Amino acid sequence: MVEAAGVDQALWQHALSALGAQADLMPEGQDSSDVRHRFDRHFPDLYRLFHALYGSRPDFQEQLTALVLQTARSWNDRPAELKALDAERERNSGWFLSNNMLGGVCYVDRYAEDLDGVRARIPYFKELGLTYLHLMPLFLAPEPHSDGGYAVSSYRDVNPKLGTMEQLRDLAAELRANGISLVVDFIFNHTSDEHEWARRAAAGDPEFSDYYWIYPDRTMPDAFEQNVREIFPDDHPGSFIEMPDGRWVWATFHTFQWDLNYSNPDVFRAMAGEMLFLANQGVDILRMDAVAFIWKRLGTPCENLPEAHTLLQAFNAVCRLAAPSLLFKSEAIVHPDEVALYIDPAECQLSYNPLQMALIWEAMATRDVSLLAQALERRHNIPAGTSWVNYVRSHDDIGWTFADEDAAELGINGFDHRRFLNSFYVNRFPGSFARGVPFQDNPRTGDCRISGTTASLCGLEDGTGQAVDRILLAHSVAFSTGGIPLLYLGDEVGQLNDYGYALEEGHGTDSRWVHRPHYPGERYAKRHDRTTPEGAVFEGLRTLLSVRAATPEFAGTRLVPFTTNNRGVLGYQRPGEGSLVLALANFSDSHQSITAQTLSGFAAGAVDIVTGSPVALSDGITLRPQEFIWLRVTPALG
Ligand code: GLC
Ligand code: GLC
Repeated sequence: MVEAAGVDQALWQHALSALGAQADLMPEGQDSSDVRHRFDRHFPDLYRLFHALYGSRPDFQEQLTALVLQTARSWNDRPAELKALDAERERNSGWFLSNNMLGGVCYVDRYAEDLDGVRARIPYFKELGLTYLHLMPLFLAPEPHSDGGYAVSSYRDVNPKLGTMEQLRDLAAELRANGISLVVDFIFNHTSDEHEWARRAAAGDPEFSDYYWIYPDRTMPDAFEQNVREIFPDDHPGSFIEMPDGRWVWATFHTFQWDLNYSNPDVFRAMAGEMLFLANQGVDILRMDAVAFIWKRLGTPCENLPEAHTLLQAFNAVCRLAAPSLLFKSEAIVHPDEVALYIDPAECQLSYNPLQMALIWEAMATRDVSLLAQALERRHNIPAGTSWVNYVRSHDDIGWTFADEDAAELGINGFDHRRFLNSFYVNRFPGSFARGVPFQDNPRTGDCRISGTTASLCGLEDGTGQAVDRILLAHSVAFSTGGIPLLYLGDEVGQLNDYGYALEEGHGTDSRWVHRPHYPGERYAKRHDRTTPEGAVFEGLRTLLSVRAATPEFAGTRLVPFTTNNRGVLGYQRPGEGSLVLALANFSDSHQSITAQTLSGFAAGAVDIVTGSPVALSDGITLRPQEFIWLRVTPALG
């Protein structure tokens, strides 16, 4: 029996007896005691969180009871194989912190035509060493405009062009059998305007109108828009769009993506149902899309509100009851203080690391690692039992999300610096090597972000040598600072921008498609030939990845800063159990030295863990342009 503080015992009894009354929900034997055990352990959290969100409503008790029943029903439906996985991961809860973890992300259609095509690429995924595969949104979506699938018309139907739910289940099982976790998006901030709920809302059904933020006139939209940022200003100004019947509906992103109204508990329960459905198909990790936007309150920017955290924790508590091994990955591309707040074992165990991503590019442009070093020092370490997902670029644009306060401490003006970075990466700055294109260039606010593949941003179109070195340098940081490295598949063979993107139906106005090319088959064919840029990148990355997998210090995320006393060279230490790896990375275009004095905290004899060669620190270290080195070191005695 639960005795946790704050739990209304009568309510809990009510929920339990409702559970007990449903004989089919309380199976006999071991499974039944597992259910009771988990409810005893996690119900207090769910109660507290759900109460915080909806406790003031007269129907709170019915809502909670319905949620509990729904959760128990979902557990009942969970396949035995997944329950076994739950048990295994309960015993080994840090499985995702291993230095063997490696992620890849791709669009099903662009990379492999369909789900069967993805299945056929499993041997390649194993060659690469993937343990985590993020398939971009693969659900039913409007045509041709779906924001790359981020407008979902049904969470229970796979886009028929890609396959069926049954194929997704089979794929999940086959990936699992090959040691690869399946990651899909949980796009829970909005649905497409073609979703059944949206259609009903559009038809005037009051029950479903309450699923969204719909108002009869501009009064409330105007009031909200006083404080709300524009996300896709190229698409539409403000946050609301007019419906055919003259009402206004909230659409943060595109006009066809309508924001769900979580102040309505029916929406929470409906989406919890969709979430558990996905979990029971064999999805291991949900990428929680656009978490910053999920709660709105008048008079606020409607981003990163405290209730957004409560809501995520409540979804998480639902998982602990009915799909205990499921993990959440936060997609919060916001101020680094806010990014950090989503990272918690009880909220999102994983998070994109957008700051590190952006600052890798920043350091590459400036040839100065100060901001990146500062970020590693003050913003890298996160709670035990959580992990970063480190990436060089994603399917989205690169936004310069560093904190202006951090930059100011280094004498950098954030606004001017972003302008410089934007002009550098779109090749308007003299001497730039980058071939990016602008995304959502907003002359009114001066805001702009960057699209481009890793290789194009590193200048591979213009010449190979330094560009390949830059590609490897950028990845070396993502592979070794701590967290799951995530490759945008195709980048490991140096895929270039797709300048024809605008010709594809529905893509013309969204420059992010420039960096979402089709499967670069010709490049893959050359991946083992080190004399080609494809091979140099691929084999270079493969070497780093196998070193990473063999280096226990790279497990987890703990990082100890290291001051190199050289603005061109990034340094950081990764402590293991009684051992230490020191990483040094030269972001400048000239040779750079780290003096013996700077390295004097370490014993003179170090080992380069990539080449296996001994390195004498007593002479200091000189790195070539874009060179990095991973050294196993020992603290100097005395
Ligand atoms: C996320 C996705 C992005 C999409 C947006 C709206 O930021 O990464 O691609 O446009 O959410 O769903
Ligand atoms: C994300 C980010 C924004 C990005 C957009 C989609 O949530 O906030 O920077 O551009 O959605 O690309």
